[in-house]
Amino acid sequence: MHGMHARLPKHFVLEERLERYAAAIELKPALLAGRWAEASAPLGGRPFRAVHLDAGCGKGAFLVASAQAEPDVLFIGLDAEPICVAYAAQRIVEAGLRNALIVPAKGSDVASIFAAGELAGMTINFPTPFPRKKEAAKRLVSLERLLEYRAVLAEDAALAFKTDHAPLFSFTLTQFALAGYEIVYRSDDCRADHPDTPFSEYEERLASAGARIHALIARAGELAGPPIQNASLSLADYLPDDLHGLSYIPHGMQGTVANLRNRRDREAARSAP
Ligand SMILES: C[S@@+](CC[C@H](N)C(=O)[O-])C[C@H]1O[C@@H](n2cnc3c(N)ncnc32)[C@H](O)[C@@H]1O
Repeated sequence: MHGMHARLPKHFVLEERLERYAAAIELKPALLAGRWAEASAPLGGRPFRAVHLDAGCGKGAFLVASAQAEPDVLFIGLDAEPICVAYAAQRIVEAGLRNALIVPAKGSDVASIFAAGELAGMTINFPTPFPRKKEAAKRLVSLERLLEYRAVLAEDAALAFKTDHAPLFSFTLTQFALAGYEIVYRSDDCRADHPDTPFSEYEERLASAGARIHALIARAGELAGPPIQNASLSLADYLPDDLHGLSYIPHGMQGTVANLRNRRDREAARSAP
């Protein structure tokens, strides 16, 4: 996570939590590929109308609110962090939801968890930015991941992405373009555009700290041949030239921005007449 983990309650025992809320956790998701809508429907009930994935769902606030809003759609949350899985499962169980599940897995597992075209929609809210080049492969919005998502998204399915992290947002735009997606909506203040959509935990926290939220909705378009990564992978390269004018620095970038500011100030002082 961004290093913004809420503190764990004193008597939080992960294994015990995972067991208590196991009804909402799917431990063998690959076995359901291609049949999520039928296999997850309540006994004797009709298959779900559609399947939606919330990748990097965290503690599940957005997942649960989305599932409550559309009871005939199955909402699957995916997260690699067991503590988040436990919290999201607890939220689902306590809300009494039959149309939400959480899958403990990585973004790179998505292609083996769903069949081609199985997802009617996907959200990625405030993914961990992993700002350094050497960690770029872990981002949920890398070229590689976006190509894998294409395969499991239905034709015309929308992939919605949100972040407070302007450098990550700029990097992501390069990746969506390379992966052949069309951007059908883009905003640097999406909350102002859509005040009534559910908040994720991070959006709630960051928006109340004054962050503006960058967002886009993309659909897979034409892809001519295998794309070649030509974008810079370090998020420091997506910072603006005027670092002193930056009014909002996303969590995890403060050190980088301070170092770059100092370096640029020293260079400016050296080259001053
Ligand atoms: C900053 S939190 C945001 C959580 C939630 N989406 C929200 O908006 O409140 C990022 C989440 O993504 C998960 N995550 C990051 N990279 C991931 C990956 N490659 N695969 C699965 N989960 C990942 C983290 O465990 C974390 O829960």
